[in-house]
Amino acid sequence: MDTRDQIIVALDCDDRAGAERIVGQLGEECRFYKVGLELLTAAGPDFVTFLVAQGKEVFLDLKLFEIPNSVAGAVRAAGTLGVSMVTVHGMGGLGIMTAAVEAARAFPGLRILALTVVTSMTDEDLTDIGIGGSAAEQVLRLARLAGKAGCHGLIASPQDVAALRSALGADPLIVTPGVTLPGDSPAEHARPGTPRAAIAAGASHIVVGRTVTRAPDPAAAFRLVRAGLSR
Ligand code: C5P
Repeated sequence: MDTRDQIIVALDCDDRAGAERIVGQLGEECRFYKVGLELLTAAGPDFVTFLVAQGKEVFLDLKLFEIPNSVAGAVRAAGTLGVSMVTVHGMGGLGIMTAAVEAARAFPGLRILALTVVTSMTDEDLTDIGIGGSAAEQVLRLARLAGKAGCHGLIASPQDVAALRSALGADPLIVTPGVTLPGDSPAEHARPGTPRAAIAAGASHIVVGRTVTRAPDPAAAFRLVRAGLSR
């Protein structure tokens, strides 16, 4: 796979102008963007259509956790926009993950990814919400459930990738946020890792946000991430 297809840049911007500026700065080299709840709410679905019209792939990070009927409706709306990936919370259980997968069938390019445990959560955070065991155990439990529901892949932190690959085999996509370049501040990532380590451990894609978008020269930062993957 071309490394450009493995790097998803998170456009965590609060307005369309800021997001368009980054897309312009990254130019042809960046092919895949993540649009999350902040930008979707601020800029609207037209911005997603704009990216798709430019030939970009879009990961729409909706983090769905709703009744199955509403999840299915949101997935259909995302599919109509032409996005490639949508996220659903694994903690919502089999019903909503299955609803998402069923709804995605009408859109051949659309992949449903299950979110296991957000990378900022620690074992203590899980205990606080009544989940016993470690984050790693919870990730594996939800990953197996996602596979049962027919999800195409998972979101998982760099530290969880190797265990997931060996448990689930080569098929599922594993998309890994929480990556920073060596020397970056780990921000609020509780379990950070480098892009290279994530791919080496078995991630199919990495999500990189501020390391690129807040860099003085985003295109240069993107090239650094890409060079790191090729070494
Ligand atoms: O930290 P960074 O700016 O690289 O974040 C990019 C994306 O990774 C965010 O949009 C967020 O969804 C995801 N992320 C995450 N867990 C974190 C930090 C970021 O899943 N702790």
